[in-house]
Amino acid sequence: MEMEKKFVSQVCEGDILGKDIIVNNSLLLKAGTVLHSRIIVKLKKIGIKELFIRPSTPEQMSKFSEITQRKQHQSRKKGEETPSNLKSCMSELFYQTIKDLVFENRYGLAVNSKGLLDMIVQEFEDLMNVPVVSRLLTKMKEWDYFTFYHMVDTFIFGTVFFHYLGLPHKKQFAKGCLLHDIGKMSIPRELIQKNDRLTSMEFEMIKLHTILGAAQLNESEITSDVAYLARQHHERLDGSGYPDGLVNSDLNEEVRALMIIDVYSAMTLKRSYRAALDSEEALKYLLRGNDQFDQVFVREFMSMLHIFPNASIVTLSDLSKARVIEVPKSFPYLPILQRLETEDRFQIPLDLSISISHFGDKKE
Ligand SMILES: [Fe+2]
Repeated sequence: MEMEKKFVSQVCEGDILGKDIIVNNSLLLKAGTVLHSRIIVKLKKIGIKELFIRPSTPEQMSKFSEITQRKQHQSRKKGEETPSNLKSCMSELFYQTIKDLVFENRYGLAVNSKGLLDMIVQEFEDLMNVPVVSRLLTKMKEWDYFTFYHMVDTFIFGTVFFHYLGLPHKKQFAKGCLLHDIGKMSIPRELIQKNDRLTSMEFEMIKLHTILGAAQLNESEITSDVAYLARQHHERLDGSGYPDGLVNSDLNEEVRALMIIDVYSAMTLKRSYRAALDSEEALKYLLRGNDQFDQVFVREFMSMLHIFPNASIVTLSDLSKARVIEVPKSFPYLPILQRLETEDRFQIPLDLSISISHFGDKKE
């Protein structure tokens, strides 16, 4: 049977790749790979336009339709809503914001399945159903769009990070991430939106958003459990943060995780007065700040994104060690590596048949 040439936009889940995809002389995806939704999304993102699809055998077709039907049946039994239903019951803006964000390169492979995307949307919808939370967030959207965007971004990273680590209090943490900068509404808008360098007096005023945010969240029983996250997210492990100059032993794991996510989000989002920094730059900053940021969380965060700065030593899924020698701008989660032992160079393939399991040459 002849292979069919298809546009990536026409590829269906379950199609089988007919020919290898080679990018920059590196094998990105092997012929014979079953194309599931995550791979299709990544191919679109990388800019692959067309590919060859292998004709499916009747057995493969029936196996795939059996799996699909079983999944649909399970979803109906659990009463899950389809994305289109969800979309209709959520504000278009919020839904679109989440969708736009998670497909950006700086998310790496953090949101690597439709199930995870649905979970984020569901968590967000649950929070929006709490009137005090949706009122605060809507007010922030009107007050300063960038801060609103950064808060939603922090919420998504927080949700997927706690899910990735399997930590408890995921819902509470997600709420804290979403509201952590709410105190900026109590700071004059011209300061929040100022493009020039802040004077030291202005910076002192901006710092107050931590205390004011905590006070605001303490006003409601529903948000008071996360007031400490608003107050402490600018603290640093070495005591150099604000407003209280707390140190490592004072800061629980939720705060230590939020500190990292907040910095990563703020650095990698575009501002009116500066371009967004690359994920790699933001991660290098977090690695350099080893006195300030919890390095176990920084490493886990990098593993979740599957983005590791150039020159990092990493351990691969086959347990060999390698050095990152290039982080491609358009797909930083598929770095080019050199194995330490054999010195052979290769790029992480899109199907992740070999992947980076962690940063460093041993698991901490
Ligand atoms: Fe903040």
